[in-house]
Amino acid sequence: MLQQTLCIIKPDATHRHLIGEILAYLEKNDLAIKALKMLQLTKPQAEGFYAEHQGKPFFEPLVESMIKAPVVVAVLEGENAISHYRNLMGATDPEKREKGTIRDLYALSYRENSVHGSDSEDSAKREITYFFTKNEIV
Ligand code: CMP
Repeated sequence: MLQQTLCIIKPDATHRHLIGEILAYLEKNDLAIKALKMLQLTKPQAEGFYAEHQGKPFFEPLVESMIKAPVVVAVLEGENAISHYRNLMGATDPEKREKGTIRDLYALSYRENSVHGSDSEDSAKREITYFFTKNEIV
């Protein structure tokens, strides 16, 4: 099934000049970039994006880590893009990260894990709309 998903290259990765490497990794693995922008998130923007985690102990430090430096947001398209991209990212838990995945290669910690990806069709829709208007997706 052809799907779209949202990718964020997080501040820990943009700060270390990993944007090009991560985009190349995605393109080499059959994910097409359909929309792309760089932006400095505001605190309310980061809080709104991660609203489902509000109240969890990692929420505040997560929001702070997301506004430390610019992020790159992208819409990726491909066959089963949502699960395919999540497999390429690797697990959130560092102990469960598969070798050669983006987080295995680049993540610094549990929180500073270099990339975000939508976890379901519903969240992909919400997250894509959070950052892009229809005519920005080409
Ligand atoms: P992400 O895929 O962007 O979704 C939520 C983020 O919260 C996750 O990546 C991590 O950056 C962070 N996160 C989730 N769980 C924890 C945790 N237990 N401790 C620290 N950070 C977490």
